[in-house]
Amino acid sequence: MSAKASRRRSPKEIFWCKRAEHYDKLYWVRDKSYLDAIIERGDFRKGQVVLDVGVGTGTVAKKIKPHVKHVIGLDISDSMLSRSNWEGISLVKWDVCQRLFDKNVFDRIVARMVFHHILDDLDGALKRCFDMLKPGGKIIIAEGLPPSDDPGVVKWYEGMFALKEERRTFTERELYERVAKAGFRNIAVCRHIMHGFSVRNWLANSGLPKEAQHKIMDMHMNAGDDVKGAYGMRIVGGDCLINTRNVIVIGEK
Ligand SMILES: C[S@@+](CC[C@H](N)C(=O)[O-])C[C@H]1O[C@@H](n2cnc3c(N)ncnc32)[C@H](O)[C@@H]1O
Repeated sequence: MSAKASRRRSPKEIFWCKRAEHYDKLYWVRDKSYLDAIIERGDFRKGQVVLDVGVGTGTVAKKIKPHVKHVIGLDISDSMLSRSNWEGISLVKWDVCQRLFDKNVFDRIVARMVFHHILDDLDGALKRCFDMLKPGGKIIIAEGLPPSDDPGVVKWYEGMFALKEERRTFTERELYERVAKAGFRNIAVCRHIMHGFSVRNWLANSGLPKEAQHKIMDMHMNAGDDVKGAYGMRIVGGDCLINTRNVIVIGEK
């Protein structure tokens, strides 16, 4: 990208442009157990039309596609959308915080690792999702959590992520409450632990400058026993392997 083209891009697009290049090399993106858990919890069926909010490079959308009638991917970033082959999936470049579709359109809305990036109007985005679902339709939100609720561990986690990006740190309770506030009922919160997450792979494909990558790796290597214990951290061949805590929240309209 030329310097002139880069100047025309929004800060969000520049951020996603840096991440897009190596995004599909991230082990967690393709982690089978995480994808299988989303399919299992999503209760997908043949006649359904599904919106994947923050579809990114389409890993989740492609996994859902054989189970349903049609998947539409929505994403704010051209750089992420341009990284994939979208055969059989429709795309919309759009910000989920802005109204686009009519009410009562979709049977399912999925959003994996998206809402922690929405800093300004998360409640508005969730309300948009509620409106777009048909009555009886479900939202399936997958997000990462700190490895424990211990305040010292949460503080470490927030400090570590501050070196990477501006983002929200969710708790299970906050996600539940926000989903309820948007109008969803019968809310289920399912935990999912991803075992052996490679911090080295995550940093190498993060789009971060090397200096930030080294600082974050050092933070892991030198973390206290509380953090290491919460993550079940193992140091293997210069890499940190951790067990990350994720949550899948399902709400019904
Ligand atoms: C961490 S990626 C997750 C991609 C995909 N869901 C997955 O699990 O692989 C987050 C995605 O959310 C998109 N995103 C962030 N804010 C958004 C917004 N306000 N509206 C639509 N998409 C957004 C980003 O462009 C990015 O592709």
